Amino acid sequence: MWNRRRALRTLAAAATYAVLRPPVARAQPRAILTRPIPSTGEALPVVGLGSWITFNVGDDPVARDACADVMRNFVEAGGRMIDSSPMYGSSQEVIGYGLRKTGLAARVFSADKVWTSSARGREQIDQSRRNWQVSRFDLVQVHNLLNWQEHLPTLFAMKAAGQLRYVGITTSEGRRHRDVEQLMRTHPIDFVQVTYNPVDREAEERILPLARERGIAVIVNRPFREGALVRALARQPLPPWAAEVDCTSWAELVLKFIVSHPAVTCAIPATTRVAHVRENMNAAYGRLPDASLRQRIIGAVERA
Ligand SMILES: NC(=O)c1ccc[n+]([C@@H]2O[C@H](COP(=O)([O-])OP(=O)(O)OC[C@H]3O[C@@H](n4cnc5c(N)ncnc54)[C@H](OP(=O)(O)O)[C@@H]3O)[C@@H](O)[C@H]2O)c1
Repeated sequence: MWNRRRALRTLAAAATYAVLRPPVARAQPRAILTRPIPSTGEALPVVGLGSWITFNVGDDPVARDACADVMRNFVEAGGRMIDSSPMYGSSQEVIGYGLRKTGLAARVFSADKVWTSSARGREQIDQSRRNWQVSRFDLVQVHNLLNWQEHLPTLFAMKAAGQLRYVGITTSEGRRHRDVEQLMRTHPIDFVQVTYNPVDREAEERILPLARERGIAVIVNRPFREGALVRALARQPLPPWAAEVDCTSWAELVLKFIVSHPAVTCAIPATTRVAHVRENMNAAYGRLPDASLRQRIIGAVERA
């Protein structure tokens, strides 16, 4: 009995101490920047991951593991959207391998495409899904508008049947913007994917304002012009004012320029390197440039 009382007193004292003790200061986890998908309000992190060329590594086990490492670091840094296409060689299978190896499939927003001039879009999407090893895609886009007349009705029917969640269309490098605009005006698409960066700003004129007006999410491809832009920028020092928006590299500054446009939902840089995916994900944290800093970024990039 004595022992029990003493134990209870000790516990009570410990509880009092716990109440009176000043709280331990804990570092707040940084919040990742997200944008809502206009058609549903679902939040998406502003930086995603592309897979064109970079994940087309075939059966090479070392290269496949390197891609899986990129995917793991991407998701661990808070990333969600991974973008691929049947056009990207073995990339879909490599993504499937990475998702299985890392066990991170449930945290990924799967974005793929239909890309065939035939009417066999549904079969192609099924094959892509098997390559990814997912039960359904979050987003399927008509790649480069190829045969959109056949594919868009298929995608809307699949969405209505719960076989995919969102429908989109893509283009790049300023191609067929008039057709993209027309489809944005006439079809209930959820996403449009276009090229946009401090050099390629054509989308600013019509596509981005129209996306806001119509409530369409925007994915930005080729943020680094397939790497040429960051390679050119690397020849000059990073301006000291990059620190005002928490950037320590040109890649981050370019990504922050892109995702600070109010119409942009996310940018999808591709990379083979863990160091680069970490750097790119840094752009999804901290402060974003305002209008005047965006102009300074354009000026600095144009002088490079
Ligand atoms: N029509 C369409 O639907 C369409 C067209 C084009 C692209 N896309 C999509 O958009 C994605 C992105 O476009 P993209 O792959 O053409 O080009 P990108 O993302 O502009 O550039 C990729 C290149 O940038 C380099 N890079 C990445 N992060 C870097 C960093 N932090 N520092 C320095 N270099 C870095 C990579 O090299 P390292 O491997 O050395 O990092 C890679 O060679 C594609 O992968 C694809 O998913 C879609």
